[in-house]
Amino acid sequence: MLSAPSKIQRLAGRPLRRGYHDIVTSKNPNKQPAIQYGPPGRSAISGQVATVFGCTGFLGRYLVAKLAKAGTQVVVPFRDEEEKRHLKVMGDLGQIVPMEWDLRNEQQTAECLRHSDVVYNLVGRNYETKNFDFDSVHVTGAKSIAHIAQESGVSKFIHVSHLNASLDSTSEFYRSKAQGEIEVREAFSDATIIRPAPMFGYEDRLLNNMAVWPIWWKLNHAQTKIRPVHVMDVAQALNNFVQLPVLAQTLNLPGPSTVTHEYLLDLIAAMTCRPPSRAPTVPKAIALALSKASQSIWWPTLSPDEVERRYIDDSQVQGDWDVVGVTPEDVEPYAITYLRRYRSAEHYPLPPVFPESRPVIN
Ligand SMILES: NC(=O)c1ccc[n+]([C@@H]2O[C@H](COP(=O)([O-])OP(=O)(O)OC[C@H]3O[C@@H](n4cnc5c(N)ncnc54)[C@H](OP(=O)(O)O)[C@@H]3O)[C@@H](O)[C@H]2O)c1
Repeated sequence: MLSAPSKIQRLAGRPLRRGYHDIVTSKNPNKQPAIQYGPPGRSAISGQVATVFGCTGFLGRYLVAKLAKAGTQVVVPFRDEEEKRHLKVMGDLGQIVPMEWDLRNEQQTAECLRHSDVVYNLVGRNYETKNFDFDSVHVTGAKSIAHIAQESGVSKFIHVSHLNASLDSTSEFYRSKAQGEIEVREAFSDATIIRPAPMFGYEDRLLNNMAVWPIWWKLNHAQTKIRPVHVMDVAQALNNFVQLPVLAQTLNLPGPSTVTHEYLLDLIAAMTCRPPSRAPTVPKAIALALSKASQSIWWPTLSPDEVERRYIDDSQVQGDWDVVGVTPEDVEPYAITYLRRYRSAEHYPLPPVFPESRPVIN
């Protein structure tokens, strides 16, 4: 006699029977076949394994959360014990696998991706340090991960670059990102290269930095054009690659609208209920001299390359969102969520008031 279905079975709307289709095999020769289990969700097992290099950063946390929520087992390579603590609780027991990792240690890299179907490389740095310059992170590091992934038989390799990556750029950061793309493509011919625009979200370096240091966003008279994209949209696009077929393409992921720094500063002033900053525009030469002088301080400050980037408009290339199955959203509906914390107690509960109009940019 058949027993009554359990609550989980009834909720899922289908009996938890196992079939041949539940067996998930992998092209990775190091990985054993797995059996998918349960309705989609935190406690499910999709049978897929992903490694997210650069998981401890801004984009990484949202990607790991999305992967784990869909039942993918996620290997999270980390450098600092404290930096990966928040990731551990994003999945069920055994779903998030932290592994100590050094970018220069090829053996550790190989161990981190040995059993993975999908490998993401989110490793990147906005500024140079005494141990790592742009090239060692974006070129040598990226090439090493891609090469080891190829050698290990990983089927999908997703490399995150930048919308403005260009070998002709005046910014060393953008040049190193472009060179990294070339090296990755050479090491892993089927790699998918993702180029997001500057991202906004809770821990971003865009809205938060503008709210705290508006003066450094007034360079170029705040007329630099930018196409902000929601970090959740980029994370969703990356997450979709678990199910998508292998795409040996370079995909641009800009936000849906182009705005100026000036408009974003006005939006921030409106959201934080503060008067717009009256700080003057600092000339480029002075900004560069100040940023060079500040490099002797041990904590990260505005680097000369970042000053350079404040003068570079975001590339106006077409977005490839239809390929990744995501519709990107504008910054305005989310601005209050991410900026309310900068309001005084008096203004904290007030509803958001938006700037009068958004300038049309061609
Ligand atoms: N944020 C944006 O607006 C934006 C826009 C376009 C493209 N991107 C690109 O998207 C990727 C992710 O961006 P993000 O904002 O999440 O960056 P992030 O917050 O700065 O995180 C960068 C990640 O890379 C790791 N990393 C940096 N240098 C490393 C090194 N030498 N060795 C090992 N790990 C290292 C960091 O590890 P630790 O935590 O150990 O330092 C961290 O996990 C980056 O490649 C970035 O260039 C970002």
